[in-house]
Parts: sequence; structure tokens; C-alpha cells
Amino acid sequence: MKTKILEINPKRIDLAKIKTAAEEIKKGNLVAFPTETVYGLGADALNEKAVAKIFQAKGRPFNDPLIVHIADIKELYRLSKQVPSVALRLVKAFWPGPLTLVLKKSELVSDIITAGLDTVAIRMPADNIALSLIREAQTPIVAPSANLFGRTSPTTAQHVADDLDGKIEMIIDGGKTKVGVESTVLDITAKPVQVLRAGGISVEKLKEVIGQVKISKELEEGFRSPGMLNSHYSPQARLILVEEKGESQVEEVRQLASEYKAKGFKVGIMAKEENQNKYNGFEVKVIGKGTELEICAANLFAILRSFDKEGFEIIIAEGLEEQGLGLAIMERLRKAAACK
Ligand code: TXA
Ligand code: MG
Repeated sequence: MKTKILEINPKRIDLAKIKTAAEEIKKGNLVAFPTETVYGLGADALNEKAVAKIFQAKGRPFNDPLIVHIADIKELYRLSKQVPSVALRLVKAFWPGPLTLVLKKSELVSDIITAGLDTVAIRMPADNIALSLIREAQTPIVAPSANLFGRTSPTTAQHVADDLDGKIEMIIDGGKTKVGVESTVLDITAKPVQVLRAGGISVEKLKEVIGQVKISKELEEGFRSPGMLNSHYSPQARLILVEEKGESQVEEVRQLASEYKAKGFKVGIMAKEENQNKYNGFEVKVIGKGTELEICAANLFAILRSFDKEGFEIIIAEGLEEQGLGLAIMERLRKAAACK
């Protein structure tokens, strides 16, 4: 299959181009498109054959459920059997935006989307290309991140092409995504509501709106237990995470980098801007200032992918503070570090 690349300027959306992409969705084909978080791999949520193609293209197991993307709040009522008041408060505060709500599903949602669960994950993305595509396709669109299963999520169209060229019909190139980490997944069927995946909306912000929020056990324990080993967000290089602890963090990173370099590995360091000059003699990529966690989140996946492209074998990553978007960043780094 030849994958078509369709460039669309997010500031001046060409509706004719969106219509071409929407036609592919209507035909049951796969279209990768930008959202504010990461690029998604889209299919018509109401066409089971189209949805199945997603799992095939990504090499994703069928037991991992998908998020349904909508552009109109009415769809929330069509796709869900029960919309509790807490959902409405969250929708009002955060949609369109990087928050996914897990609700009781309606009959309309097929088991292939939910992996057989009686709940469905729904979000309204804050990206005009994504919203126009959903509107023009006249159907909700399921979209996992547009990467091969287990790999780092894509934040540019080039990242998508690197993983999925030849496997999908079309990629919409709308430039670099803004948030850079995936949406926060919040289960509102749980009491109190529970964060299943940290993401673009911080736990602090959720608490401001709904008060009590539980953090899933998995997240809470930071994937430190061996049972939590998980192949997600993994660069090809081996990633070693050194947790935030002031000056001793730099010491530890330096020591690890020296050890691996001495063993003959190609070693890269992912550092905060304020520490970049402390690693003379090593190859350093800067994620951003430790205090600017939004910028760090936006850079994270592109940096991990660039280490891979340049053939690094070991990445030593400085951990960041676990507040705001720092929690989402650390969740992904811990999973990546747990891989190999
Ligand atoms: O930002 C995002 O959420 C991106 C963009 C493209 O929207 N999408 C994304 O999709 O990250 P994906 O498939 O890579 O991750 C979906 C997450 C998975 O962790 C999945 O287990 C969870 O959502 N999920 C989906 N349906 C669920 C359900 N019914 N109950 C619990 N978790 C669910
Ligand atoms: Mg994903």
C-alpha cells in the first residue's frame, strides 16, 4: 500500500483536504491525524472491520481497548449509557482537551473497541484538524497513538511515517503536536473517580474541579514492582532512569554514563537545561528546564525517537519532579526503563 501524506496548515485549514481524508475514514480505511497530544491512527468507530485494521497495522493485541474521539457533545450521550454529573463538570472544564473519560458504554460501541469491557473511553480533542476530520467523516473516530505497538508515541507526521508507512492509507501532516504526552485517562465509573493513566491534564487540575481523585495503584507504585513490566513507550535503546534528587542525580548520571561508555556503548544523556553543561564529553539532549514541565512533555517523545535514529544504545535519562505534567512524563519514563 502506498501511504498518502496530506499536509494541512492547522492555522488555515483547507476543508477540501479534510474532506479527502474524511472520505478514507468513510470507506473504512485508516488515516493518521494530529491531535493536541500525539498523532492518532483513526478509523470509523462504527465500522468493526475498519477498527480491526488498527490492531493489525499497529501489531496491537486485541485486549487493549481504544479511545473514541468525538467532536460534538451529543455523541457522548450516544456512545455512553450513563453520563453522571461529574462527567459533565469535567467536560465543561476540560473539553475539548487532553482528558479521556471512561464511562458505561452504549450498545452502539462494539466489543472490539472496548476489548469486551462494559465501559468505553471517550475524548474530544482540542485540535482543529482532528475536530474537522471527525465532523466531515460524520462519525466518531477511534484512534490509538499512531505508533507501532510498544513504541514511543508520535508527535510529528514523520514519526508516524517511520512506524506505519506502507501500512495505512493516509497521514495528515499538521506539524508538531502541542502537549506531547497522551491524554489523561480517568475512570468515572469508579468511586472516587480514578486516574488510570497520567497525561495532558494534571491530577492537580482535576482535583480543582472535582475534589477527590484516586490514583490507580499501578500509577501510585510508579511501576516499580516487577509485575508492572510493560512494553509501552519504549525506545529501541535501553533507557536508564535516574530519579530527581538534586546534585546527586547529576553525579549518578555521570557515573552511569562513564561506565557504559567505557564498556563501548554509544551513550546519550537526556538532561534538564540547567544541567546540560555538567556532562562534558558526553552527548546530551535537552528536554527543557526542570521547572517548565509543559515544555519537557512536548519534547519527550521526539527526543527518545531521535536517540534511536542516531543509533544510541543506552539512554541515561534525568528524572523530573512529579508534579503537574511531570507525573505523566515520569510514568512514561518508568515504563520505558522497565522494558529492557
Ligand atoms: O492522547 C491520547 O489519548 C491519544 C490521542 C491519539 O488521542 N490516544 C491514545 O490512545 O493514547 P492509546 O490507544 O495509545 O491509549 C488508550 C489508553 C490505553 O491505556 C487503554 O488501555 C485505555 O486508554 N483505555 C481505553 N479504553 C478503556 C476502557 N474502557 N477502560 C479503561 N481504559 C481504557
Ligand atoms: Mg499508545
